[in-house]
Amino acid sequence: MHYTFHDHHPPAQDLLGEVLTGLACQPKQLPPKFFYDRRGSQLFDAITRLPEYYPTRTEIGILREQGDAIAEHLGHDTVLIELGSGSPQKIRVLLDSLRPAVYMPVDISGEHLRDSASHIARDYPDLKVEAVCADYTAGLQLPDMPKDTARAAFFPGSSIGNFVPAAAVDLLRDVGRDLGPGGAMLIGVDLKKDRQRLDVAYNDNQQITAAFNLNLLTRINREANADFDINRFGHRAFYNEAEGRIEMHLVSTCAQKVRVDGHHFRFEAGETIHTENSYKYSVEEFHELGAEAGYEAEQVWTDPDELFSVHCLRVMACADLRGRLAA
Ligand code: AVJ
Repeated sequence: MHYTFHDHHPPAQDLLGEVLTGLACQPKQLPPKFFYDRRGSQLFDAITRLPEYYPTRTEIGILREQGDAIAEHLGHDTVLIELGSGSPQKIRVLLDSLRPAVYMPVDISGEHLRDSASHIARDYPDLKVEAVCADYTAGLQLPDMPKDTARAAFFPGSSIGNFVPAAAVDLLRDVGRDLGPGGAMLIGVDLKKDRQRLDVAYNDNQQITAAFNLNLLTRINREANADFDINRFGHRAFYNEAEGRIEMHLVSTCAQKVRVDGHHFRFEAGETIHTENSYKYSVEEFHELGAEAGYEAEQVWTDPDELFSVHCLRVMACADLRGRLAA
């Protein structure tokens, strides 16, 4: 078994700073990456199994169905970099068809990553597992990799949807720099669809998504010395058609004051904290986004109901990039 853990986790200071900045904004907002403490990661796992939440099982179905085709595009014996070590089931399907030489999961949730990566190292004894605990939105600092081994990235779960399109382009471009020209990116992207289906996926019957959203405040109470009363906040999620995104908010159910590390924040009754965007893209829209970030669209696979898409993008050679910039 080959297993290494690289800890680049951002210090708790960063959470406090980002919380203070977000709550000082008008409208108030908080970054969704802070959902994923231990409890938040568990709740997200529960979300992926909900009957209403179609993305995870649909993406796994596509990966299973298209395993051979995906391996043809990404190649074997690669360094496989996974951004946000998503569902353990998903990566196993991919590892089985790709058989990479090195598996490098990058995730912000340390405990979650430790568990999942060490289990994979145990179950795939020939695979070199290099887990990196880091915030990939702050620039990838990857451990040294063999220069002569092809690199591929796996960005599952439509996590790219958390970023406004301009930030998504920046992130994809950064990862492309690490992959190098000719590097492949396998990326899962949730498709545009009727709003009913979307609204229900983020407003489940068992209220697990509500618990996931509210857990952010529990975490901030603990880690940023705050006194949010979670009984005075509610979950709201809806599809914003004009922006092409699901928005999640925490709604203050009354006028109240909250303290965060000695700073006071006032809430009107009905005022919200915007906690997450989840952008949905048509295949064409995502091709455009990839092109802006310096990728060629090579292949796209979808499920029969066209709920979800898995794209293979290829980092353009420098010459192609220059051509695009000149054009
Ligand atoms: C992990 C960001 C892709 O946007 O669907 C699920 C997170 N939030 N339910 C998504 C999430 C509420 C999820 N991503």
